[in-house]
Amino acid sequence: MTTEPRTIVLITGANQGIGYAVAQGLLAYKSYFILLGSRDASRGAKAANELDPTGEFIQSITIDVADDASIQQAADLVESKYGRLDVLINNAGINTEIDIMIEQHKKQREEGASQPGKVDLAQQRKLFRDVYDVNLFGAAMVTEAFTPLLEKSTSAPARIVFVSSHTGSLGLRVDSLGAEYAKWSRPSFPVYRSSKAALNMLTLHYAAKFNDKGWKVNGSCPNLTDTNFARGWVKGRPASESAVNIVRLATLSTDGESGVYSDENGVVPW
Ligand SMILES: NC(=O)c1ccc[n+]([C@@H]2O[C@H](COP(=O)([O-])OP(=O)(O)OC[C@H]3O[C@@H](n4cnc5c(N)ncnc54)[C@H](OP(=O)(O)O)[C@@H]3O)[C@@H](O)[C@H]2O)c1
Repeated sequence: MTTEPRTIVLITGANQGIGYAVAQGLLAYKSYFILLGSRDASRGAKAANELDPTGEFIQSITIDVADDASIQQAADLVESKYGRLDVLINNAGINTEIDIMIEQHKKQREEGASQPGKVDLAQQRKLFRDVYDVNLFGAAMVTEAFTPLLEKSTSAPARIVFVSSHTGSLGLRVDSLGAEYAKWSRPSFPVYRSSKAALNMLTLHYAAKFNDKGWKVNGSCPNLTDTNFARGWVKGRPASESAVNIVRLATLSTDGESGVYSDENGVVPW
């Protein structure tokens, strides 16, 4: 199998949901070689095989973004097999806060209480740690580990996409004249939202750091999407629609933007 003329893309957390749909979107180009990241080898192999049974365009790669050894192992493997990376899509993300919220609502209903019970600080701290470990530290460590391989990219410009969320936008959150202010200003999901707000600063950091090299580093907001992520609690749109802007950012040419936060309708305030 030769990948030489093809653009090599790594997508983290791509065995299901939006990452999977991004792999599907890139597959249609036939000019990309997709490394489908999965923290579980068998789930990754199954997803890669579903999308491309020939293995010519998609191969799975095991990468747990909360585990530095796993990240380094993946980077070493890409280096030894391909010698470079052209596009990195930091997609893996979790919102376990939603599980706790659903559990709290259930308990509150069962107990007939009007307010949720006392916050368990140790549980709350663990929640912050777990969510930040994947959504923020994971994306940062993956970017650090793969930067030397992006430096060797043969497909100018190298591109990095950070999959963020409208819910992490400080601009939307404070725009009291905005059409959806009531929605964005609700005090919901502080752990997840702050992890994505921090991810946005990280995006700007890398955009500035790699600006002189001409790399395209951007953030994308998927919008509410029907994946395992939402646990069926709220209805979202198909993952294929949320993949559109991520695919666009992953395929930018030299005249494309960098340091921009967007969805398929255009720029989103940071
Ligand atoms: N769905 C939405 O409404 C929505 C809205 C805005 C932003 N987003 C963002 O979009 C991205 C993708 O979410 P999604 O909706 O596709 O969720 P999803 O269906 O739950 O998929 C998340 C993916 O991330 C992987 N993952 C979780 N922890 C990981 C770890 N430690 N290392 C590597 N991979 C890990 C999951 O692997 P497993 O299969 O092994 O669990 C899965 O492949 C996330 O960054 C999310 O914050 C989603």
